[in-house]
Amino acid sequence: MTDVENRPTPDETPVEMPRSAGVSVNEVLSREATYQNVPKSLLIESPELIEPGVVDVERYTSYDFHRKEVELVWRKVWQMACRLEHIPNVGDHVVYRIVDDSIIVVRISETEIRAYHNTCLHRGTELRPEDGSVPFFRCPFHAWTWNLDGTLISATSDWDLPDFNPDDFCLPEAKVGTWGGFVFINMDPDCVPFEDYVENLPELMAEFPLENRRIRTHVAGVIDANWKVTLEAFIEVYHVFATHPQIAPYQADEATQYDVWGDHVNRKITNGGIVSPHISAKSDDETIVQMMFADFFNVTDVDQVTVPEGKTARDVIAAKLRADFQERTGIDVSDASNTEMMDGIEFYLFPNFAPWVGVALPMVYRVRPNGDNPDSSIFEVMLLSPTDDPDDTTPPPEIQWIDGDWRVVEELGVLGPAYNQDMGNLPRVQRGLKASGNGKVRFLRYQEMRLRHFHRTLMKYIEAK
Ligand code: FES
Ligand SMILES: [Fe+2]
Repeated sequence: MTDVENRPTPDETPVEMPRSAGVSVNEVLSREATYQNVPKSLLIESPELIEPGVVDVERYTSYDFHRKEVELVWRKVWQMACRLEHIPNVGDHVVYRIVDDSIIVVRISETEIRAYHNTCLHRGTELRPEDGSVPFFRCPFHAWTWNLDGTLISATSDWDLPDFNPDDFCLPEAKVGTWGGFVFINMDPDCVPFEDYVENLPELMAEFPLENRRIRTHVAGVIDANWKVTLEAFIEVYHVFATHPQIAPYQADEATQYDVWGDHVNRKITNGGIVSPHISAKSDDETIVQMMFADFFNVTDVDQVTVPEGKTARDVIAAKLRADFQERTGIDVSDASNTEMMDGIEFYLFPNFAPWVGVALPMVYRVRPNGDNPDSSIFEVMLLSPTDDPDDTTPPPEIQWIDGDWRVVEELGVLGPAYNQDMGNLPRVQRGLKASGNGKVRFLRYQEMRLRHFHRTLMKYIEAK
């Protein structure tokens, strides 16, 4: 592949990439690390020049390309299927659907989770129509029945099956991996082990133990756009100034740091409490703080809010966020750094999993195709709240499906209107791609580095022999 060939070898000096005006994330976090415990992995920068930055529109619009993705990507990769708290008890299961495939992810003992193709070995009936809890799997059509461990209990009228041997009728499995409170599955029997697939992600996220969180809100929407159009809109911050102009006074959008590693892992960090480099009239720290207190914390007498000598706007805003969080949850976050309290820190594991690891924005995005349709995708947001009780067994909420207006979910707060803005773009992107005059899409060098990285990996799978 051309873009791989063009990568600098370790002996070459990496090409310097121009960066936006304004203070960099690394400068902000390095300064704060002199007086706070900033998670170490956030002080690392790992940019890479990935060429070329032009891809064919047909990747987003062609049914043939979509089918290639089904065969060569979705049936080969590790993908996030659910959280552990979805299946706390033996028999609890989740039905994870990806295009036409359907996988039952089930707890079969206190320590073991299995995944089965959701299909009867008689004439193919789907064994489980939805999430739930069962003592065994019983097909509704002719009542063939399996144990949770996949062994056959009974095939009705087995005297009528030639050479019947129950050992020949174990449910075919998918592989299972767990990490950070999430369950991943892989349909490829020859796949790389989960521990290898995740590359350095566990190391990078070691200081963000997502197993100590629980889903409090789970929302999903069907988007009239290819899954990659949807995904790409949520892994770059380049669009924020044009699409979400209300955020510009409080967030250094264009100065976002982007990092890539290996094939499957990348990240972005966006500083809050710093004005966008796009805005030429710079606000002083006190103005930023007063605007944020008014807009985000509904404080009316903001004139009383000041930035003490030697402190920054970020120090004051983070202190307010810590106090509010502690009051709301009872969890002590007094040691949490500014960046954990207020920055947009989003990791990504190819292809469907994007966890945000801060305290203030504790989200996980999951994006996948919606059925066998390259023009439709499912976008999900799980809000994960930290818990200080390792035995917290609060059941996760039902998925709330959004019908056009994301503001109806109160827990999304300022994200609701922002998602409406995002989702307004996406069908329009899909229509525009189909009307393309040159058949090409172009990515920026730095700010869309994660999109370039994603496409390089996508094509490694598509072109794998
Ligand atoms: S199709 Fe399942 S038992 Fe017949
Ligand atoms: Fe957005």
